[in-house]
Amino acid sequence: MKTGINIQKPKGKLGILTPGIGAVSTTFMAGVIATRKGLGQPIGSISQMGNIRLGKRTENREPKVKDFIPLASLEDLVFGGWDIFTDNAYEAAMNAGVLEKDLLNEIKDELSTIKPMPAVFDHNYVKNLHGDYVKKADTKMDLANAVMADIKRFKTENSCSRMLMIWTASTEVYVETSTVHKTIENFEKGLLNNDPGISPSMIYAYAALKSGIPYINGAPNLTNDVPAIIELANQLNIPIAGKDFKTGQTLMKTILGPGLKARLLGIDGWFSTNILGNRDGEVLDDAGSFKTKEVSKLSVLDSVLEPEKYPELYKNMYHKVRINYYPPKGDDKESWDNIDIFGWLGYKMQIKVNFLCKDSILAAPVVLDLALFMDLAQRAEMKGIQEWLSFYFKSPQTKEGLQPIHDIFLQKVKFENTLRHLMGEPLINYLGLDYYEDD
Ligand SMILES: NC(=O)c1ccc[n+]([C@@H]2O[C@H](COP(=O)([O-])OP(=O)(O)OC[C@H]3O[C@@H](n4cnc5c(N)ncnc54)[C@H](O)[C@@H]3O)[C@@H](O)[C@H]2O)c1
Repeated sequence: MKTGINIQKPKGKLGILTPGIGAVSTTFMAGVIATRKGLGQPIGSISQMGNIRLGKRTENREPKVKDFIPLASLEDLVFGGWDIFTDNAYEAAMNAGVLEKDLLNEIKDELSTIKPMPAVFDHNYVKNLHGDYVKKADTKMDLANAVMADIKRFKTENSCSRMLMIWTASTEVYVETSTVHKTIENFEKGLLNNDPGISPSMIYAYAALKSGIPYINGAPNLTNDVPAIIELANQLNIPIAGKDFKTGQTLMKTILGPGLKARLLGIDGWFSTNILGNRDGEVLDDAGSFKTKEVSKLSVLDSVLEPEKYPELYKNMYHKVRINYYPPKGDDKESWDNIDIFGWLGYKMQIKVNFLCKDSILAAPVVLDLALFMDLAQRAEMKGIQEWLSFYFKSPQTKEGLQPIHDIFLQKVKFENTLRHLMGEPLINYLGLDYYEDD
């Protein structure tokens, strides 16, 4: 008998608010609108195109994910957000140059109605951007209240039954957890005293949670990965997730790394370099923002390879990540990986990967899936950090003291098993003994 969790039905409109209406955000919004109009397919989105196996292999049950679990429909999504520039989503998408002008012109009316609200912005946190469409207030608490008022107004004006916030704004400079982030009390005092340790993204996250809506962090910023925000999410029964969408080179790393490790091939070095020319690249050209990204990108291999368990294979691996801003590339990022590996008796080999990717094309389905699954989590009353969504992140947020899982295949199993659990289906571990019985 099924024992699934009680999940509220996704009735009414779901408002998706993005701090940052740039390349990723507009590619996501335009893609959903284009899909609704039959102008394209949501390729890469598990919520829209994926199937999920249920029960024993012999049962041949493999429904579409969206037919299996109650997700919001694309027709019910409404978009809004904030930016430091006044461009509407059509203008921002044209500037980003990811999608073809012809496609954008076909959906110009819908995109043009998505106008940014003035941002919470601090130049100390993003050095290479200069925009003046920003909120002004005496304290950071006033700024948080202004964001809460925006959320409330958007909800009413668009008749939304539910909302969520997903950060698609620029990467902020590197900061570490300090006293002001340790407790809700310290954090709220810090908002009132304009503590410099509180970044704009933290103000958005606080405002989202206080408004009762989930917060997802698509960049490597510290934001919701601090005790105060985690505690607030738990206290208010709201899901949070992060950090940093897993796309491009890191996606490749978490596909290749587990494969090499599974065959116990050693690695001497892994050199990764990126050449990109969009605004994200310009922001990452600043050392502070790059450091935040670097930490996020570097952490991946250690957890996949477990050098402490296999010192002779991975302990001396040299891992280097570079990001180079090169305007002519635009959003067409080029990444190069040189992997020095060794096998039987220590004989050396090399793998070279040259990935010519479109960053925002890879990120858009991740934004869509995260929005729909976080809305599901909220309706299923799943609070706090949603580790089962690690599949979508470069630096998955975990509960304190736990190591994140980076292996994309393990992440996928955990993700699907969570969906099965929610719907009262038996979990699948793919480890049944097929010479005794069908698993
Ligand atoms: N494209 C990918 O594959 C990918 C993968 C992982 C993470 N990310 C992250 O997603 C974010 C967005 O990437 P993008 O390519 O769309 O960048 P983008 O520069 O095109 O867009 C970011 C937008 O955020 C705005 N912004 C900056 N600070 C803001 C603030 N405080 N409030 C509101 N708006 C603000 C900028 O004006 C800009 O329009 C970046 O942090 C990037 O590192 C992207």
